[in-house]
Amino acid sequence: MSDGRLSRVCVVGGAGFIGSHFVARLLSDPATEQVTVYDNFSSGSDWHLAPVADDPRLRVVRADVGDLPDLVEACAGHDTMIHLASNPDIAAAVTNPAIDFDQGTRLTHHVAEAARLSQVGLVLYASGSGVYGDLGEIEAVEDHGPMIPTSTYGASKLAGEAILASYAAMFDFTVRAFRFGNVVGPRQTHGVGYDFVRRLLDDPSRLRILGDGQQSKSYIYVEDVIAAVLLAGTRATTPFDAFNVATGDYVTVTEIAELAMDVLGLPPGSTEFQYTGGDRGWKGDVPVVRINTDKIRSLGWSNQRTGPQALRDSMSSMADDYRAGLLTS
Ligand SMILES: NC(=O)c1ccc[n+]([C@@H]2O[C@H](COP(=O)([O-])OP(=O)(O)OC[C@H]3O[C@@H](n4cnc5c(N)ncnc54)[C@H](O)[C@@H]3O)[C@@H](O)[C@H]2O)c1
Repeated sequence: MSDGRLSRVCVVGGAGFIGSHFVARLLSDPATEQVTVYDNFSSGSDWHLAPVADDPRLRVVRADVGDLPDLVEACAGHDTMIHLASNPDIAAAVTNPAIDFDQGTRLTHHVAEAARLSQVGLVLYASGSGVYGDLGEIEAVEDHGPMIPTSTYGASKLAGEAILASYAAMFDFTVRAFRFGNVVGPRQTHGVGYDFVRRLLDDPSRLRILGDGQQSKSYIYVEDVIAAVLLAGTRATTPFDAFNVATGDYVTVTEIAELAMDVLGLPPGSTEFQYTGGDRGWKGDVPVVRINTDKIRSLGWSNQRTGPQALRDSMSSMADDYRAGLLTS
């Protein structure tokens, strides 16, 4: 980056969906000196990094964020950490209630400790809109209060923000937290679009849809997310700040199913939609998400794709990856 920041970046969770796009974006900038991917490859993959694997500025450390000494060593000498490592399965806590604390809050504490011990100046944290809980049609603004998460995933993200904010204040580094809507794009390996594409390719005659299909949320293309994070990150002056990152439009689950059919060339009406019923996909799900983005837009950011365009492009890419055998069913 031209202002001297983000020239040596440790991407924690860099082999995952969003992380691999950060890595590619950073390495596309000649000013970037080094990118270290720190990942245990639990949901990350080598093929995510294949397009940049030969870049001599890339270093891949296969290790767990739970191993603090390894993390400290790997991040030493970097100016920035981008923290993306967490449990990717939001509903997993229904049967494993500790997962978001073990593979969420605890990992974020380790990232805060590693930033302190390695004297990293800037931490960019992938939080999520789950911190707001269930606000219905109320548009969530960054300083909404009180925040009452309805999932342990949302709770772990909010706890992570609190830990990082307190470390930023006490140990003189800068933190930016980003509350994304649902992120979609190439190399995605989870999420509703991913699920629908795989199921429809396996059996186009019917599609199981969790809930009543009216859940209405925000979907944003991964490149738009990265642009927002890098913009707000490089402008950081105060110790801590949080930004919503979303498109401002909303798509229902039934509309995503229809988009998926269109992307796969299936005639409208040819697939039977089988709804499981109820207003949400699982207990803890937030059926209606509304996210205010005035703050990030005031910095000059705007999304390049609408939600439907983002979903269409990502599902098209996922279908190609699935047919190529890169995604397992
Ligand atoms: N995808 C979305 O829609 C979305 C929305 C809001 C926030 N987020 C957050 O953004 C981050 C990245 O999401 P993603 O969709 O790229 O998920 P992902 O699962 O593809 O990426 C997470 C990466 O972290 C790694 N990881 C997990 N636990 C680890 C551990 N203990 N040690 C080392 N590495 C570990 C995984 O192997 C993976 O490569 C996550 O924190 C997620 O909660 C994602």
